[in-house]
Amino acid sequence: MGNAKDKKVKTKALKNDFWMLGLIWRFTPSYVILCLIDGVFLGINSCIGMLFIKYLLNFLTNNSGLGKISNLVIAYGLYIAIFNMFFYWFYQVFLPYTKEKLHREMCSSMFLKAVSLDLEKYDDPEFYDDFIWAMEQTYIRATNLMDDTERMTSRMVGSVTLVGIFFGIDPLMAVLILAFAITRIIFTTLLNRTNVKFFSEINPLNRKDNYIRRVFMLPDYAKEIRATTVAEPLFDEFDKNKLKKDELVEKYSFKRVLFQFLGMALPVIGETLLYIILIYKIMVLKTMQLGDLTVAISGLWKISWNLRDLADRLIRYHEHGIFIEKIIKFMKNVPSIVGGEVDAPEFEELEIKDLEFSYTKDGQQITALDRINMKIRQGEKIAIVGYNGAGKTTLTKLIMRLYDPKQGTIKYNGKNLKEYSINSLRDKMVAVFQDYRIFAGTVAENVVGGEFDGKNEEKVLKALEKSDFCAKLKTLSNGISTLLTREFEDDGTELSGGEKQKLAIARAFYKNAQLIIMDEPSSALDPDAEYNLNRSISRYAEDKTVIFISHRLSTTRHADRIYMFEKGKIVESGTHEELIAKNGKYAYMFNLQAEKYRKAATEKQD
Ligand SMILES: Nc1ncnc2c1ncn2[C@@H]1O[C@H](COP(=O)(O)OP(=O)(O)OP(=O)(O)O)[C@@H](O)[C@H]1O
Ligand SMILES: [Mg+2]
Repeated sequence: MGNAKDKKVKTKALKNDFWMLGLIWRFTPSYVILCLIDGVFLGINSCIGMLFIKYLLNFLTNNSGLGKISNLVIAYGLYIAIFNMFFYWFYQVFLPYTKEKLHREMCSSMFLKAVSLDLEKYDDPEFYDDFIWAMEQTYIRATNLMDDTERMTSRMVGSVTLVGIFFGIDPLMAVLILAFAITRIIFTTLLNRTNVKFFSEINPLNRKDNYIRRVFMLPDYAKEIRATTVAEPLFDEFDKNKLKKDELVEKYSFKRVLFQFLGMALPVIGETLLYIILIYKIMVLKTMQLGDLTVAISGLWKISWNLRDLADRLIRYHEHGIFIEKIIKFMKNVPSIVGGEVDAPEFEELEIKDLEFSYTKDGQQITALDRINMKIRQGEKIAIVGYNGAGKTTLTKLIMRLYDPKQGTIKYNGKNLKEYSINSLRDKMVAVFQDYRIFAGTVAENVVGGEFDGKNEEKVLKALEKSDFCAKLKTLSNGISTLLTREFEDDGTELSGGEKQKLAIARAFYKNAQLIIMDEPSSALDPDAEYNLNRSISRYAEDKTVIFISHRLSTTRHADRIYMFEKGKIVESGTHEELIAKNGKYAYMFNLQAEKYRKAATEKQD
């Protein structure tokens, strides 16, 4: 049973290696061809040097004449010159250029894949880990695999040639060499199998370690781990993990050492035996020439080195295969959110019917939206309010088709969202996300959301004005060409939280979309900026449809309709006045906030 399973793992690992070789072939076929040629060259090369010494010594001891000897030396010299020229070109010119090409091609296809992935995939920690790993490791694994392929070719060609040469000298020696090579391969396989088991048990622990390392390394967590005690349990976990890893190392160490030892020791015994045969042939039988003796001695050493390296490379090949599995999983991922054929027209109406959605976390379903019904028409200003976790952001993600509903439908101009091509649909909307990001680029590029060629400068400036960013813009020496963040340049500009949010809002004003979704756009803004933003929205987005999510009910009171969300359901809806008159949950929340503001204001006055 176990053996069958191991065999399957092995075949699969090998299949994965071939998959990767196929990928490299697709991007840079010359890399594969020349690595194989180089491998063959390397393999033959070591034997040619040996044969040269053999013939030279035999010619010398047999007094074969100067002509024969000089021909031999010239032929060998020419071969070495050509070989070195190829080598120089291959390693110094061809490889750096081709590896860079492969790197670019691989990154591009990985980036495209990453963009096409369903957002839902990012919720699955295992997938996310593998995804990060694949992004970081694909190129490294590919080049390591090629290095090992080249070396394995060379070791195999070298070994076969050497066994052939030995066969010419003494068939018994060739048979013995083969027997010990097989012994080495058997124990290496056993070691390999033990290593697979060991790594499959230690990998989940490494995953945990990686996560903890990330938390202490990435800037995303830097603030929280300083401001809270969240790091302490992680420290504990890190220590516990180490103990578990020590146990695993101990559990497998005996087998690993034993197989490694036998894989090395038996062939060494074999080599000693061969030396004894050699000495016997020279001293007792006197059937061996001096040249043959040098070939036998250096050949034995070479063949032993070749086989040892071949066995090591085989282990690495197997290891590559296991890791490449993750890359294949990532690359073969088919997005479930695919668009239809229809180009989305300008927005007129959104109809949400019995919409249900749940996230999957640790195998459990977390209901985020529960039978939501809404109708939003062109030009309306819609507010969505509610406590944390009520499902507000989830609704916006579904409208933008970042996720698909589990039940119910969203109709855009009477047609299911799924009928429209995704790009055309997202082009008709613009969203300011709650967790917006500023990219390492200029102010203008961040507003445009892509390349800025200087043509729409006026438009960019207008958008920045509407989002209240102009006061900051005046302080930037390079205006809209100012480079943001210090990712690319040490003197890049870092913005405050509120300034970043204003820039993110400017994107919405820049893109002339009919449907604007703003998820907590004023969460980082000071009261003045919030007031200006609300004024901008009512002035500039007068004819547009706006879905505005906010916790501050004072900012949403003028909406045409307010939806109050609670635990994934709409619990109340209507205008501000209607909801206040109803004196329900909305009125309670509104009065609570108003009271707080009043109190804060009187405290300030006092
Ligand atoms: N990626 C996710 N994976 C698992 N659960 C999620 C995910 N995103 C949200 N949730 C859960 O879904 C529910 C609704 O979340 P959502 O982000 O829509 O709330 P929200 O109303 O926008 O809250 P907030 O006011 O805090 O922004 C919450 O219980 C939340 O924990
Ligand atoms: Mg939210």
